[in-house]
Amino acid sequence: MLSVVVLISGSGSNLLALLKATENPLFPVKVSAVGSDKDAAGLAHAELFEIDTFVVQPERFESREAWGEVLLKNINHHQPDLVVLAGFMKILPTNVVRALSGRLINTHPSLLPNFPGAHAVRDALAAGATSTGVTIHKVDEGVDTGEVIVQQEVVIQPGDSEEQLHERIKVVERELLVKTIEEIALRKINLI
Ligand code: GAR
Repeated sequence: MLSVVVLISGSGSNLLALLKATENPLFPVKVSAVGSDKDAAGLAHAELFEIDTFVVQPERFESREAWGEVLLKNINHHQPDLVVLAGFMKILPTNVVRALSGRLINTHPSLLPNFPGAHAVRDALAAGATSTGVTIHKVDEGVDTGEVIVQQEVVIQPGDSEEQLHERIKVVERELLVKTIEEIALRKINLI
């Protein structure tokens, strides 16, 4: 059973998809805890599934590194095999990325290296792209620069709003993320 800690900042629909998958006893993954940098709405999903949660707010620390140390302590407390950034909107400090090397992945709503950063869907529309998608990648010390594990394209429809396009991306993303985590658990995907 692969033990996973998920970090979120928002609505947590990717987290919810993973939690629903774990209801199947044959699914080889256990969500051990869910963490956030704020009082995110998605933490309610974890509470519903009676999963431990933790919130470590960067504003309460003097430096990013000090924030990272406490975040890392909370993550390590649950001894995860894998840490999944699922809509976690803060950049992790180097000390955290290094400590979790080989067991840290992120999901991002574009076909990286196109449109990295916090506004990937908006940026794709602003660039006049005709397609975008989802990337699940290893996390390194850069912003959305880690090695790609898997990608899936989503076609942009004429007149798409940011919300409409992001929701269509998320439909693809949720399925791809759950499948990828399952394949990591089954060692069909090797992160090292
Ligand atoms: C997801 O689309 C995820 O890829 C994106 O935030 C959304 C979170 O949705 N992450 C980023 O943009 C990171 N750069 P959710 O809270 O409903 O799972």
